[in-house]
Amino acid sequence: MKAVANTTSPPQATGLPPGPSTSPVKQTFRYWRERQRYLPQMFDRFGDIVTLRLIPHGPFVILRDPEHIREVFRGAPEIFHGGKGNWNLLPIVGRNSLLTLDAPEHKPERKRMMPPFHHERIAALVDTMRQIAENEARRWPVDRPFRFLDRSYALTLEIIVKAVLGVDDPRRAAALSDALHKVADMDLSGILVLIRPELGKVWPWRKFVRDLEHADRLIYEEIALRRRDPKRDQRTDVLSMLLEDPGADDRDVRDEVMTLLMAGHETTAVGLAWLFERLLRHPAAHARLRRGLDEPKDPYRTAVFKEALRVRPVIHNVARRLTEPIELAGYRLPAGATVVPAIGAVQQDERFWGPDAAEFRPERWIDGNPPAQAWLPFGGGVRRCIGAMFAQVEIETVVAAILRTVAIEAVDPADEGDRMHHITMIPKEGTRIRVVRRLG
Ligand code: HEM
Repeated sequence: MKAVANTTSPPQATGLPPGPSTSPVKQTFRYWRERQRYLPQMFDRFGDIVTLRLIPHGPFVILRDPEHIREVFRGAPEIFHGGKGNWNLLPIVGRNSLLTLDAPEHKPERKRMMPPFHHERIAALVDTMRQIAENEARRWPVDRPFRFLDRSYALTLEIIVKAVLGVDDPRRAAALSDALHKVADMDLSGILVLIRPELGKVWPWRKFVRDLEHADRLIYEEIALRRRDPKRDQRTDVLSMLLEDPGADDRDVRDEVMTLLMAGHETTAVGLAWLFERLLRHPAAHARLRRGLDEPKDPYRTAVFKEALRVRPVIHNVARRLTEPIELAGYRLPAGATVVPAIGAVQQDERFWGPDAAEFRPERWIDGNPPAQAWLPFGGGVRRCIGAMFAQVEIETVVAAILRTVAIEAVDPADEGDRMHHITMIPKEGTRIRVVRRLG
């Protein structure tokens, strides 16, 4: 393993770190289009801290050194704001969402949302997750290729509707899945409604407003039903637990449900799709994972989960906007600059992961000594993903359930490429697979 580059601070703090001299338009385009390749190229040229100029923001200071990243994650939440970067979600998640709040409001809201994410509460959802995944895999046709990612979106949405919202009635579950799918798929139109509310009266924004109102109506109905449920305290779904807080009104709970949907649906679906994309191209890993399927907790399953998120991170970077100037790595960064831990680049850095850093090799989590500070798929600090454990339990449960139900293979043995979709990196072909035969 190569030594980590010496990035100690020069004695006097100077201005912004170096960066490309290409036009901000070009930098912005490459960042949005293909940051997974652009950022490593910039690090190789300028070192572990690089300034990009992105429109319409101020300077973006991108970080690859885990020491600098740790400083950012440990930084005072009043100075390192993470909510501003999610402002485009405001029309959907509401102003009181964990995703958009910053200090001082972020901390109490996070505390309010924590209870459903404790380990034993997530464990209570495992059976529901397993059944949904088995039923899904039983419906797949034999010997007919399909895009796993499409089924993965449907599957993770069904888990949100049943495990997060706790909807048991199949008709109401289907109506909610449909409505939430439309909301989760919304994009630019939402931003424009926020800036110009009068646009909500015209197409296509009228459709955006209607879809959102429809989803809201269904969520409020579930909230009302659950409030009246005399057996609510025995229920395991996340919604029932959010309602345990006597201070939460319907609007708060609706915003929390939307926040979980927006943060947890696409990320988990894409994480699952990448896991299968990698696994089905590594027969030895696939065989070893299958051998442990009957174990309730096979460490190799966790190794596969971690390794897939390492080599194919769903989210490539997180961001914090500075409210005050700070010193980092010998530079004086101004208020208004955004510091950006580049998760994806750190997770493939040979200095930490060795010469085979780009390889999918789950064994490194079993035999090796993996560098924890260089595995950051869920971000870090006070804003680390609240659903990280939920996602891990969900992905491991779903993977085992699918592999127990069907034998599958990749349609094309060549690696799938990647492309950006919203802020996630997805497999270019959507993980094309084929069922070879049914097993259960
Ligand atoms: C593989 C799946 C997932 C990945 C890769 C992922 C990744 C992330 C990342 C990178 C962040 C930002 C962290 C930071 O800024 O430091 C985040 C935040 C968040 N995630 Fe996840 N996530 C996943 C699944 C989920 C699930 C299943 C849920 C909920 C059910 C969820 C809920 C949230 C919430 C609410 C936040 C905002 C936390 C805050 O600002 O305090 N995520 N996630």
